[in-house]
Amino acid sequence: MKTLPRPLPADPLPLVERWLAAASTGGRRRNPTAMALATTDARSRPSVRMVLLKHLSVDAGFAVFYTHYGSRKGRELDANARAAGVLYWEELGAQIRLEGPVVRCPDAESDAYFATRPWGSQVNALVSEQSAPLEDFDAFLRTMREKNERLGGPPDPANPEAGGPALARPAFWGGYRLWLDTVELWLEGTDRCHERVRYQRLLSREDASSFSGQPWSSQRLQP
Ligand SMILES: Cc1cc2nc3c(=O)[nH]c(=O)nc-3n(C[C@H](O)[C@H](O)[C@H](O)COP(=O)(O)O)c2cc1C
Repeated sequence: MKTLPRPLPADPLPLVERWLAAASTGGRRRNPTAMALATTDARSRPSVRMVLLKHLSVDAGFAVFYTHYGSRKGRELDANARAAGVLYWEELGAQIRLEGPVVRCPDAESDAYFATRPWGSQVNALVSEQSAPLEDFDAFLRTMREKNERLGGPPDPANPEAGGPALARPAFWGGYRLWLDTVELWLEGTDRCHERVRYQRLLSREDASSFSGQPWSSQRLQP
């Protein structure tokens, strides 16, 4: 992936999938799908933080991340249900920008993902009011331990990373779908002759968690 394909593909998402796969091979990075996610509050003030891009639907055209619905990002998405994300891999010299409307995943999808999480992460999701003020970190750790004991500990104590459906997903925690109406691919070039192409499409709301998309159009951009 030294250059963008010529001619440019009609749909950018197979390329996004390929770049994500390239970033994930070789075990070079701990979190190859780490994405900076920007949201804005009701007064248009932006904020940004990292999340893990956990799923890319190439066919439908959305990216999924998981979080606490009452966190700062969750509250900001309640106020303005659009977000922008960026992924960058230094060793690939590649950047991907993703933008579009954000909706909550169907409950069944969030349930299924929650069941794959390690026990400790599940307990943390139950205990943490993510982004709420915390006076005493040690008290938080005690609450974690107490919750862990009250719930009987991991189903397979020898393998607490295994996860499993033992704990139910709390309703305040789950996935978001970032539906993609804008995707920009960027490849580093010599003398700052970076290749950029921006893809855009119109989305129409179908139901609570889905959109349908018109065909993509693409436009190369100056570096
Ligand atoms: C590499 C990395 C990945 C992260 N992934 C997630 C994630 O998938 N979901 C999440 O809620 N927080 C994740 N975090 C923590 C967030 O960056 C952030 O601290 C948290 O979500 C609270 O953000 P907020 O107060 O803006 O809602 C991650 C942090 C890092 C550094």
